Formats: sequence, C-alpha cells, structure tokens
Amino acid sequence: MFNSSNAANIVDGEILYKESCIECHEANPSEEMLIFSIKKLKKKIYGCVGQLDLPWNEQDVDDTVEYLDVKFFHFDEWQ
Ligand code: HEC
Repeated sequence: MFNSSNAANIVDGEILYKESCIECHEANPSEEMLIFSIKKLKKKIYGCVGQLDLPWNEQDVDDTVEYLDVKFFHFDEWQ
C-alpha cells in the first residue's frame, strides 16, 4: 500500500519493469501468485536484478514493487 513513509513511484516502476523485466516475465511476474508479502516480492526482485547485474538502486526496486503491488498483488502492508 502506498503511504507517506515511502516515496515509491508507480509510474517509474512501470517504466522500469517494462524496460528490464517484461522480456522474461509476463505483465505479472508471479502469475500463480505464490508470493504473499511485499518482503518476499522484494527479495525475488533483488534476486533478478542481481542476476541480471542491472544498475538499479533501492528506489528503483521499491518503485517496481509498488507498481506490481498496485497492479496485481494488493498486499495490505508495506513490509
Ligand atoms: C533473463 C530473464 C529474466 C529477467 C530479465 C527477469 N527475470 Fe525475474 N525471474 C526469472 C526466472 C528464471 C525466475 C524464476 C527463478 C527464480 O525464482 O529465481 C524469476 C523469478 C522472478 C520473480 C518470482 C516469481 C515467483 O512467483 O516466485 C519475480 C517477482 C521476478 N522474477 C521479478 C523480476 C523483475 C522485477 C525483473 C526486472 C528487474 C525481472 N524479474 C527480470 C527470469 C528473469
């Protein structure tokens, strides 16, 4: 969920995802919805970002997490 304690930007997240992730993943990287928390989603994203050696900072990852959350996952808590 978006809240004032994080400045994630879903517009940036969407751009980043489309640039770097969609070539391997569908629009939703976890179609079976096996991920049940922001924390886990974030970990998986760091996994792919690390594997691909992308020059993403923490904000980029947060933006992408937020984008995917708003679009698909709808987790209740940002953790
Ligand atoms: C070169 C292909 C490739 C690219 C590009 C890629 N991924 Fe992945 N990703 C994978 C593979 C393969 C897996 C499954 C293996 C694993 O879980 O480590 C995976 C797993 C995931 C998962 C977990 C899915 C699940 O249901 O467990 C997420 C979330 C994810 N990637 C997000 C991203 C994001 C965000 C990006 C953009 C930075 C990205 N991926 C870029 C290949 C890729």
